[in-house]
Amino acid sequence: MIIHKLADKLNSVHSLTTEEYRFLIDNRTKEDEEYIKDLAVSARKKIYGNSVFVRGLIEISNICKNDCFYCGIRKSNKNCDRYRLSPEQIMLCAEEGYSLGFRTFVLQGGEDPFFSDEVLIKIIGEIKSSFPDCAVTLSMGERSRDSYERLYNAGADRYLLRHETANEEHYNMLHPPEMSYKNRMNCLKELRSTGYQVGAGFMVGSPFQTNAELAEDLKFIELFKPDMCGIGPFIPHKDTPFANKKAGTLEDTCFLLSVIRLIYPNILLPSTTALGTIHPRGRELGILSGANVVMPNLSPVNVRKKYELYDNKICTGEESAECRGCLEARMKSVGYEIVTDRGDIKK
Ligand code: 5AD
Ligand code: FES
Repeated sequence: MIIHKLADKLNSVHSLTTEEYRFLIDNRTKEDEEYIKDLAVSARKKIYGNSVFVRGLIEISNICKNDCFYCGIRKSNKNCDRYRLSPEQIMLCAEEGYSLGFRTFVLQGGEDPFFSDEVLIKIIGEIKSSFPDCAVTLSMGERSRDSYERLYNAGADRYLLRHETANEEHYNMLHPPEMSYKNRMNCLKELRSTGYQVGAGFMVGSPFQTNAELAEDLKFIELFKPDMCGIGPFIPHKDTPFANKKAGTLEDTCFLLSVIRLIYPNILLPSTTALGTIHPRGRELGILSGANVVMPNLSPVNVRKKYELYDNKICTGEESAECRGCLEARMKSVGYEIVTDRGDIKK
């Protein structure tokens, strides 16, 4: 009953103390999870109905100067077959995506020095002039304030940069010493003040994470109020220092999706590819827990297997049109509908 009361409070005031978040995560039963999920789905339906927004994900480069311990494309992974798409290839992906009904393109990549401001500005400009009714989202890691401003002025609308964990010590257990929690958080603030719609997010079940860290992640989401929050289970990659660590679970991820929906009912919440990787119906179950976005892959099929952040990633053999059709059917199977729309946050 205490958990129901906390959930009701969250549903009405959209805020709990960090200790209360912790209590909720620690003590919830299966029955409580169902209760919170029902609240989350009603909150989501009030704002977004049964629409699901889609974003076409174009994985533009797996070359990365960083060495995050969890990530399959970290620079120390000598088994990673590196590639970068040319601006022409990126445009072809966007053209195909447009004809498949996508109105948001997400350019995602490792921190690859080839993608300087000049190069990105040209690509963003071309996409925006060819498809003025589309949003461009960047997911290109940590850059300077100046760079964020230039890309924004070139027409980028949104930027995704997961905070990864809101606890500094935990951050340092997941990243090498050259990377810093403070810089990560500072980038998120710079992105927001530049004018972007901003996405934060974290992995569920990442190594050394406890419910205390998760409670801090929830408090961070409550206070920072990102427009979007990407969460998915951590999944080990065989060529990383975390190869033998356990993956995050479907149950924890779905539960946290519901809680985040209650923290910020309007938030854009993707049901991630990682969730679809650990369970055959993971993405459907994410939507049924309160998520409202899916991000199918638009990358050329010949590079898909190479953008392997974690083992056994799904959709590496399918053409863009197949993923689009597949997701449409999956969403229909649970009573939801993919819409042709930029999919901006409703405020
Ligand atoms: N398992 C799950 N998610 C991962 N990411 C990186 N590596 C993994 C992994 N092994 C996530 C990070 C990153 C996003 C692009 O993918 O949170 O921000
Ligand atoms: Fe890619 Fe189902 S979404 S095959």
